Amino acid sequence: MDADQAASVVEEGSSILGDLYTEITSSTLNIALLVAILILVYKIFKGRSDDDGDTAVKVDPPLPKMKKQDMTLEELRKYDGTQADGRVLCAINGRIFDVTKGKRFYGPGGPYASFAGHDASRALAMFQTDMVKDEWDDLSDLDSSQMESVREWDAQLAEKYDVIGRLLKPGEEPSNYSDDEDGEKSKDD
Ligand code: HEM
Repeated sequence: MDADQAASVVEEGSSILGDLYTEITSSTLNIALLVAILILVYKIFKGRSDDDGDTAVKVDPPLPKMKKQDMTLEELRKYDGTQADGRVLCAINGRIFDVTKGKRFYGPGGPYASFAGHDASRALAMFQTDMVKDEWDDLSDLDSSQMESVREWDAQLAEKYDVIGRLLKPGEEPSNYSDDEDGEKSKDD
């Protein structure tokens, strides 16, 4: 490549960057989305670097496995990571996960803290962290691709976290889990 070719590559590169900049700054929505992405990226990487510090001091010992049980939304709400033991639960697609070991995501100040103690299905379906309701959400307005996305997140989190039980609809009775089901191996073992 001669000097002229190199100069034209540099010129082309800077014109693409210029176009991108103009495109992004042309709408308030684009700017808002960019800011939201930068905040999430900052929170994720901040969480990571906090973990990299003096781990001998900072890593909390894992909590004992929780007894298998179904919960109402009100019961679930207590487990947002602010209690003394710091346990964090989160529901997806009707199942409750113990996401305590993912506290840097879901714990207070984490990028997905809004999911803690809540049903995160709608937020995950819509890929918007603030789409979390305090009241019962039957998800009936979600389309099939959004529901498919909820099922995929459910399967992905089930690989990593223990399922505690089911999220109960208002008026629904909890199941009685046997000791055998209770003794299922933890994902930490
Ligand atoms: C566009 C901005 C986003 C970026 C750059 C981003 C980036 C990431 C990264 C890098 C991870 C993996 C972190 C790791 O394993 O160390 C992650 C995990 C995750 N993200 Fe995002 N994310 C974004 C938006 C979102 C949104 C909008 C949602 C949901 C509404 C979401 C939900 C999740 C969940 C549930 C996990 C799994 C955490 C776990 O392993 O428990 N993300 N994200």
